Amino acid sequence: MTESVLTLNDGHRMPQLGLGTLHLDGAADVVDQALSIGYRHIDTASLYRNEEAVGRGIRRSSVAREEVFVTSKLHNSDQGYQSTLDAFQTSRALLGLDYLDLYLIHWPAPRLDRFVDSWRALVELRERGWVRSIGVSNFRLQDLDRIITEVGVVPAVNQIELHPSFAQPELQEEHRRLGILTQAWSPLGGRDDLQEGVIAQIADETGRTAAQVIVRWHLDSGRAVFPKSANPGRLRENFAALEFALNDDQVRRIDALDRGNRTGGHPDQVGNP
Ligand code: A2P
Repeated sequence: MTESVLTLNDGHRMPQLGLGTLHLDGAADVVDQALSIGYRHIDTASLYRNEEAVGRGIRRSSVAREEVFVTSKLHNSDQGYQSTLDAFQTSRALLGLDYLDLYLIHWPAPRLDRFVDSWRALVELRERGWVRSIGVSNFRLQDLDRIITEVGVVPAVNQIELHPSFAQPELQEEHRRLGILTQAWSPLGGRDDLQEGVIAQIADETGRTAAQVIVRWHLDSGRAVFPKSANPGRLRENFAALEFALNDDQVRRIDALDRGNRTGGHPDQVGNP
C-alpha cells in the first residue's frame, strides 16, 4: 500500500494521509509505530506540547527523515514577527530536525491582530530555508484575504475543522479558487459522524469500517487528512483507507451530511486576549 501524494502550490509534495498527534499519549511510540505501518506525514503543534516526543519517534524509527513530511504550528501566544521567528526555532529544536516540511499559524486570533506580522515571519523562514512550505490553520475567508493582500503570499494550506457534519463548503470553494490545499482536522467527526446512518450504509456497501469510509471521503475529495489514534489496530485500519475508493454517488451522499456541526474551537474566539 503506497501513500497518495499531493503537490502544493509551491511545488512541494505532501503525503495525503497523515497522523494527527493532539492528545496522543505516548506520542514517540505511536509515531514510530505509524511510520512502520507506512504513514509518512506527521502533524504536530507547539500547542500539543509533544514536539520533543514526536521528534524522538521519528528518530527512533527506521524511516529516513527525508521520507517523512513533518508539520508544526505557531502557538497563539507567540504571534508577532520576531516572536514567530524565535518560536519556530524552539519547535525545530524540540523536534530535533534541521528543517520542517510545513509550518502553520495555528489560529488567526483576530482580536490579537498579529497574524499578518506572523505571516511575514513565516515567509522569512521559508526564504531562509528553515521550512519548505508555509500555511495557516483555522483561517476564515477574511483572514486569508488579509494576508494575501498585505503580504502578497498565498498560503500552501489552510488546516480547518472538517468532517461529514461540518464540511465548510464555502471555505473549501475559496481554497480551490486560490490554489490552497484544504487539510482536515478532527476528520472523523467523533461519534456523531462515525455513527451516522449514511456512513454505516456506505460501510456496508464497501465492506469497510465507518472510519475508513470517512477517511476515504477526504481522500477522494482531494484533501489532506490526519486521523489520530493511539491504538495500533486503528492506526492500521485508518491507513488501509488507501486501499479502496468511493464512487461519486457515495461521495455526494456524504457531502449531503453537512449541517454546520462545529465541534471544536471557533476561529473568531480562540487565541484572543
Ligand atoms: P482512539 O485514540 O482511542 O483510537 P480525530 O482524528 O477525528 O480527531 O478522531 C480521533 C478520535 O477518533 C480518537 O478519539 C480516536 O480514539 C478515535 N478513532 C481513531 N481512529 C478510529 C477508528 N478507526 N475507529 C473508531 N474510532 C477511531
